[in-house]
Amino acid sequence: MSTPAIPADFPADFLWGTATASYQIEGAAAEGGRGPSIWDTLCRVPGAIQGGDTGDVACDHYHRWREDVGHLERLGVGAYRLSISWSRVQPGGSGPFNPEGVAFYSDLVDALRERGIRPYVTLYHWDLPQELEDAGGWTDRETAYAFAEYARHMAGELGDRVEVWTTLNEPWCSAYLGYASGVHAPGRTEPAAALAAVHHLNLAHGLAARAIREVLPAAQVSITLNLHVLRAADPASADDLAAKAQIDALANGAFLGPLLDGAYPAGLLDGTAHVSDWSFVRDGDLELVRQPLDVLGVNYYSTTMVRRFRGEGEPESADGHKASAASPWVGVTDVEFVRQPGPYTAMGWNIEAGGLTEMLLDLHERYPGLPLAVTENGAAFDDEVVTDGEGRPRVHDARRVAYLHDHVAAVGAALAAGVDVRGYFAWSLLDNFEWAYGYSKRFGIIRVDYPTGERTWKDSALWYRRLATTGRLPA
Ligand code: NOJ
Repeated sequence: MSTPAIPADFPADFLWGTATASYQIEGAAAEGGRGPSIWDTLCRVPGAIQGGDTGDVACDHYHRWREDVGHLERLGVGAYRLSISWSRVQPGGSGPFNPEGVAFYSDLVDALRERGIRPYVTLYHWDLPQELEDAGGWTDRETAYAFAEYARHMAGELGDRVEVWTTLNEPWCSAYLGYASGVHAPGRTEPAAALAAVHHLNLAHGLAARAIREVLPAAQVSITLNLHVLRAADPASADDLAAKAQIDALANGAFLGPLLDGAYPAGLLDGTAHVSDWSFVRDGDLELVRQPLDVLGVNYYSTTMVRRFRGEGEPESADGHKASAASPWVGVTDVEFVRQPGPYTAMGWNIEAGGLTEMLLDLHERYPGLPLAVTENGAAFDDEVVTDGEGRPRVHDARRVAYLHDHVAAVGAALAAGVDVRGYFAWSLLDNFEWAYGYSKRFGIIRVDYPTGERTWKDSALWYRRLATTGRLPA
């Protein structure tokens, strides 16, 4: 594929934003009437989270949100992607809502709008109320209905102050990391349960999209996926191409299929028949899942290389997002993940900006007319804090600046090729709780000193401000 030209300027209405998620930044886990979520629980399991870290305090955004909105304003971004903690606004996941929790988000959304920053609100970024997990979590169909009622309530509360309603963030992670590999909450390792979770998450999206539009007929509804840009280790090997097709079905088709094509891919059902008969898909479900999408959100970090399981060689990475070379993927396939050439981020993920262009072009070809937004992109690096001549802390994160530059250019290349991309959100506004890695991985363009909560702009924040305020890619 030839690389399309990169335009010097982005369209005037292109949205530049930053993104965060509730459990990763808020803290105040037991304040303001918030109920426990599955992440509060997993964080208490010895060995589950690096360093024994928890989201109890995180970036203390719950108390410092006004300051954080000030940072967004100074960055000059036009949008901010946040998520609502379900158990903060509805502690048990069903039953009564918590006015104090709702007020927190209502005030936040107002403060953003007053500054001309459009709120992109995600309803589910992985922090399921614990009570719902106790009743079966995403393996239970009822969770999808509970989610739709929560979505309906929040649509009524926040109304048209929200620019875009994103139902779910990366349901791939919720299903497979939560229920099969177990590295994410709720930490279960049951492949069949993961497939049931896939379907109930899809159903939750469809029911919630419908509920939101019942309350707000003009609402813009979205979902954010982490689609996998796949490579076969040996493109000449039929086995490796079959491995690629298997992971394509599990990671991409399992969501794109029902959401946009109205069916699960045949290859997915056949390829997992030894694990599940998919009898949890009931008549009428597929019509419910396929609701009109105003925009599809995509998160992009890296590419993925797979091959037929050989049980040899170096593991893909130690990140727990992918299986090690020693174990076929979460008991569902006989595929293994292969480490690719660097450079790598601190997550061990290979850096390949062209994969983002490829993904956007591919979506555009398959779903012409579907607007897209890059709802997350960014990189963790081991930042170093230095002191400048006036004694102020500085972070010269040149590798993050280069990463962002190259990936924004990759979006520019897709735009130049005619893809309808509406916006780009840097992950993340702040260093934050990186799930099973705790606070050891820093993705922020603003540094957080956890003991004090102090925020320091990294060079990448200064760079991003130039991009957001000019719409022109800085050199
Ligand atoms: C995607 C997730 O949505 C986000 O929560 C996470 O921190 C980033 N990827 C980086 O791993």
